[in-house]
Amino acid sequence: MDRLSSRTRFLNSIRRIRVDRPPIWLMRQAGRYLPEYRKIRTEVRGFLDLCYNPDLASEVTIQPIRRFQLDAAIIFSDILVIPHAAGSKLVFKEKEGPKLTPLKNKDDISALNFKEITERLTPVYKAIKITRQRLGEGTAIIGFSGAPWTLATYMVEGGTSREFLQIRRLASENPDLLQDLFKSLESSIATHLINQIEAGADAVQIFDSWAGILNTPDFECWCLDPIIRICERIKNIYPQTPIIVFPRLAGIRYLDFLGNPAVNVISIDQTVPLNWARKYLFPSLAIQGNLDPMSLLVGGERLKSDVHKILEAFGDQPGFIFNLGHGVIKNTNPENVEALCEVIRSWPGDSR
Ligand code: CP3
Repeated sequence: MDRLSSRTRFLNSIRRIRVDRPPIWLMRQAGRYLPEYRKIRTEVRGFLDLCYNPDLASEVTIQPIRRFQLDAAIIFSDILVIPHAAGSKLVFKEKEGPKLTPLKNKDDISALNFKEITERLTPVYKAIKITRQRLGEGTAIIGFSGAPWTLATYMVEGGTSREFLQIRRLASENPDLLQDLFKSLESSIATHLINQIEAGADAVQIFDSWAGILNTPDFECWCLDPIIRICERIKNIYPQTPIIVFPRLAGIRYLDFLGNPAVNVISIDQTVPLNWARKYLFPSLAIQGNLDPMSLLVGGERLKSDVHKILEAFGDQPGFIFNLGHGVIKNTNPENVEALCEVIRSWPGDSR
């Protein structure tokens, strides 16, 4: 039986206070694998209309909480609302993902307007306020943003990419120009996260989905340092609000985030070996992760055994939040998510 509220379980785990069982939430827990999401999605024209409708964004934020009693609700939005609010043309095409007009030169970057982030993203903050009213005090609410590198990849490539040739070329050939873009992104991201905290978010997560494509000398300049500067800006105003950082596929460079007091939790992808994370990361930081989303898609015994391996590595120590190594895959059966939650809720069972 659960003894703590979800919010207390989640926030205490981040502070490395022992709790009854690991808290659980899932990246992309709201989305197309849920029939109730698909229904709401047909009621709006485009995906962005859903993101900017506070009432509906709040409703889809709460859908997975209602169904699975997850410990935290991540506000329904997208990382690309920042470039959109800065004036990038953005469309989401079915099966193709997001498309933006690619930034090609100095003029394209100067044409962006980062001054009205707060006004243009007010629907996100309204959605957080409504969600708090609807959920009450017992469930944690997570705000989020993309990291500068990941946002820059979408803005420069004009969408999802396989080889990231344009952004990698820009970083090597004209780093000063990319720095100009980063300066604006960093302050917009910090503002957007601070606004979400002011609207009621209990914690914020920074997604650097494409951290893994950076070469090692560039990692510090385009992933680590910008993220740390953003975290410090937030901590100057809200020192108590936890920050979760997700430098996906960073490999051994996850270690670079250790020793930075502005980072509270490191979210690890499914390529990180459990014994390595336990030995090198867990002594210094709270950890979130790292079930392979494919395991959740497949379900059954494979899912149970993968979940148990993670719980055996981290579940007995304070400072662990159960999550996936990346987002829920669209074809996942919601029953598998239910089965996963049952395993977590009954941990450690009679054995303690
Ligand atoms: O996690 C949640 O439940 C909260 C909502 C959320 C979405 N996107 C909703 C969404 C969050 C946290 C994101 C983050 C996001 N968005 C990331 C970082 C995490 C990651 O996946 O690496 C990235 C890179 C994006 C950019 C983005 N948005 C892409 C590449 C796509 C298309 C991919 C796809 O699945 O179609 C989106 C669209 C998107 N964002 C959808 C949802 C539910 C699907 C759009 C729809 O419903 O039509």
